[in-house]
Amino acid sequence: MRVLGIETSCDETGIAIYDSEHGLLAHTLHSQLDIHAAFGGVVPELASRDHVQKILPLVETVLSAANLTPQDIHGVAYTKGPGLVGALLIGAMMGRTIGYALGVPSLGVHHLEGHIMAPFLEPHPPAFPFLALLVSGGHTELIKVEGLGRYTVIGDTLDDAVGEAFDKTAKLLGLGYPGGAALAALAEKGHPERFHFPRPMVNRPGLDFSFSGLKTFARQTVMTHSQDEQTKADIARAFQQSVVETLTIKCRRAIQETGFQYLVIAGGVGANLALRHALQAMCQQHGVLLSFPRIEFCTDNGAMIAYIGCQRLLAGEQDDLSVDVFARWPLDQLRPPSK
Ligand code: KG4
Ligand code: ZN
Repeated sequence: MRVLGIETSCDETGIAIYDSEHGLLAHTLHSQLDIHAAFGGVVPELASRDHVQKILPLVETVLSAANLTPQDIHGVAYTKGPGLVGALLIGAMMGRTIGYALGVPSLGVHHLEGHIMAPFLEPHPPAFPFLALLVSGGHTELIKVEGLGRYTVIGDTLDDAVGEAFDKTAKLLGLGYPGGAALAALAEKGHPERFHFPRPMVNRPGLDFSFSGLKTFARQTVMTHSQDEQTKADIARAFQQSVVETLTIKCRRAIQETGFQYLVIAGGVGANLALRHALQAMCQQHGVLLSFPRIEFCTDNGAMIAYIGCQRLLAGEQDDLSVDVFARWPLDQLRPPSK
């Protein structure tokens, strides 16, 4: 089965074609960074308007990259939530319309299920059950994954998501929006010993996170020091070190509690190399296999949506006549594929 995937939950239009026998055939991504940068954050209405313009040309791009015609598509999957409602609606209406026009089934899928399962786009996917650390702009969760659609959230953030904390700290340092990757690059030049940021909630039992205090700590450090380039880099380094160590401590704890043999890193912050290295070292120590998708499949993309859509459409799931999208949609409400 060949499935067209459409991702429009936020500020990126991701389109891909996944084939159940041959894997990913083509994928492409359009980022709206230039549109939102001037506003210091995503403007939902502008995001929706841009998705409307980009979806069809990008569908043509992936079809021609895969050397296929629209008639070669057997199903359509689109992101149904969580995300910006207007942006989701554009993808949902386009997906449903394309499916209807081609006479093939369509299905709305969960954005975070896409992130968690993104390692299955790679040659050596993990085996169930595994632990997933989902770290994106809107989510910081530790999840027990026992199969497709079988998720138990065992740790969550009480306030800011880790990507949000990266972005807010980056903004303080004048790095623009979203500044996670820029902050990580600046941290490379920072001195590891100059500042020490707290490791939030590591001394409390449990697997929950809190990152809003770190952002406040960063603000106070910025306000009490002159902002030369080296100082900014030193602050970026200390912030990143604190986040990486905090996430690593909680992952170690979750591995010990579950006894699982695989850890998967998913979501945009999974692109952070310092985090990847720290988790790799911890996993090696504990005899656990670490799995993360290539960087372009850590951040938002259409390939993960096409993959999930393909698994669920193959199992016989498909939309009924209603078109629903969800701004919020708890992951543990999902179920294994069913007719
Ligand atoms: O998963 P994603 O692409 O979008 C959603 O939020 O769903 O994640 C985006 C987040 C942003 O907060 C961005 O700053 C962060 O991932 N990010 C990074 C890096 N690359 C992207 N954070 C830290 N280091 C990076 N290299
Ligand atoms: Zn995402």
